[in-house]
Amino acid sequence: MKGIILYKSKYGATKQYADWIAERTGFSCIKTDDADTKEITGYDVIILGGGIYASGIAGLSFLKKNIGKLKDKKIIVFCCGASPYEPNSYEAVVQHNLKGELAGIPCFYCRGTFDMKEMTFKDRTLCKMLRKAVSKKNPEDYEIWEKALMAVGENEKGNWIDRSYIEPIIEAIG
Ligand SMILES: Cc1cc2nc3c(=O)[nH]c(=O)nc-3n(C[C@H](O)[C@H](O)[C@H](O)COP(=O)(O)O)c2cc1C
Repeated sequence: MKGIILYKSKYGATKQYADWIAERTGFSCIKTDDADTKEITGYDVIILGGGIYASGIAGLSFLKKNIGKLKDKKIIVFCCGASPYEPNSYEAVVQHNLKGELAGIPCFYCRGTFDMKEMTFKDRTLCKMLRKAVSKKNPEDYEIWEKALMAVGENEKGNWIDRSYIEPIIEAIG
């Protein structure tokens, strides 16, 4: 079985998981932005990973654009977010991203990192604004992502990268 791992990672979490999957499977990994559709159609298994940004999975547009040419392939998606895994919220992320022709593609969660200091100015500003807005809400009404955002203080950092998250992905490859 020939496989390839495509990843889009801004702060390195998705890349780390892509590297671990590559190590276990022997598949090579490339950035989704550098992926050539013609070349990708030569593989049997396509694993696509991306960070979650405002509920969207980075790099998923590659699949949306090319799904017609990848119909007979085994496709697996994984995504990295800062939120702790919570089934209902995760299901909402999956429904939001894997719809239409992408519906039914297996999607796995790998928890990533969150570090306000390491972020780009734009992301930091966005997160600060979000924190300000969220802080006005009743904590009981927080969305799971808002909870995670508020739990990690502005000057703290969270790193929840854990190799065991790749196990269900390896299993799904078969
Ligand atoms: C602007 C911004 C928006 C984010 N939105 C979400 C989100 O909606 N859900 C979530 O779980 N994590 C969210 N995160 C956290 C990232 O998904 C997390 O840092 C992840 O590890 C990023 O993966 P990457 O480093 O591979 O890009 C957000 C981070 C930033 C900077």
